[in-house]
Amino acid sequence: MIKTIFSGVQPSGNLHVGNYFGAIKQWVEMQNDYQCLFCVVDYHAITVKQDPEVLRRKIIETAKIYLASGIDPERSIIFQQSDVKEHTELAWILNCVSARMADLKKMTQFKDKAGEGQDNVSVGLFAYPVLMAADILLYNTDVVPVGDDQVQHVELCRDLGKRFNNLYGEVFKIPEVKIKKESARIMGLDDPQKKMSKSATSEWNYLGLTDEIEKAKKKIMKAVTDSGSEIIYDKANKPALANLLTIYSLASDRSIKDLEKEFIGKGYGDFKKGLAETMATFLISFQEKYSKIKDNDVKEILYSGAEKARIIAQNKIEEVRKKIGVLS
Ligand code: TYM
Repeated sequence: MIKTIFSGVQPSGNLHVGNYFGAIKQWVEMQNDYQCLFCVVDYHAITVKQDPEVLRRKIIETAKIYLASGIDPERSIIFQQSDVKEHTELAWILNCVSARMADLKKMTQFKDKAGEGQDNVSVGLFAYPVLMAADILLYNTDVVPVGDDQVQHVELCRDLGKRFNNLYGEVFKIPEVKIKKESARIMGLDDPQKKMSKSATSEWNYLGLTDEIEKAKKKIMKAVTDSGSEIIYDKANKPALANLLTIYSLASDRSIKDLEKEFIGKGYGDFKKGLAETMATFLISFQEKYSKIKDNDVKEILYSGAEKARIIAQNKIEEVRKKIGVLS
């Protein structure tokens, strides 16, 4: 039987090459072999304050990025999370019957995001991994392709699914996580110890998929580098260069070894110029596809995607409601 994959991106901040190489590119590659659902997870985005006008635009932009990357709406279901009410319904049920405070307190992303001010962040930010678990469990998902930072959340999803099954019988399929080792954690251009992030305070942290080309080149030329001048991949001693080499390799489809060879005897300046040109070529081609996609077409794709997703989600929630005793 054909296996199902589910994944999503929050429509907040600026989607960057980390999101693309870490997650979306894998999705495109998996489309031929799986039943795919790709969600614009807007209810995750509101765990922190959003401007309604900006959020509306980001939802469309995120779906456009899926399409420009090569997600095919004829083969894959693309939809907006808030259009399928069963996500929040299942999240509530899991909050009550499966999730424990202690599980959520362990989530490193929550600790990072909330920082010192844990008492003042939204309850939604704390409970967010439960909504993510609901997203996944609703669709009998087999595989969840994500970047490294979401692995802990998928593990929690597995635990919540198993706990529910132990209490009520086999209702949920327990999914596997899938990461692509070489691109699972793209680091910030301004700090190789921190991941590239769309909510970064500095725009010099990330390479946005819709960044203006000259700006993107400037970001690469300004990226921090390590001491020394040799172009070699050495993650422990040259973490900034290792990250740039990874991005170069992913954007050019060339091996790191091949790139090292090309830059023997050359310095960081030449290397960065090469990367800036490669990245510009990649972004120009991406943005050409992106700019051709019309908002109205995106809205239609999201609408019909939600109709298809809803059929699967409604079946599952009915089964859940029966099990817990709220449906006769
Ligand atoms: P989000 O929106 O933060 O990120 C979207 C995807 O991009 C990956 N990613 C990265 N990969 C490599 N390097 C990076 N620097 C980098 N930054 C982000 C993320 O791992 C993710 O795969 N909670 C999720 C969205 C979500 C979801 C789901 C995912 C909600 N429900 C169900 C899978 C299944 C999130 O905030 O991703």
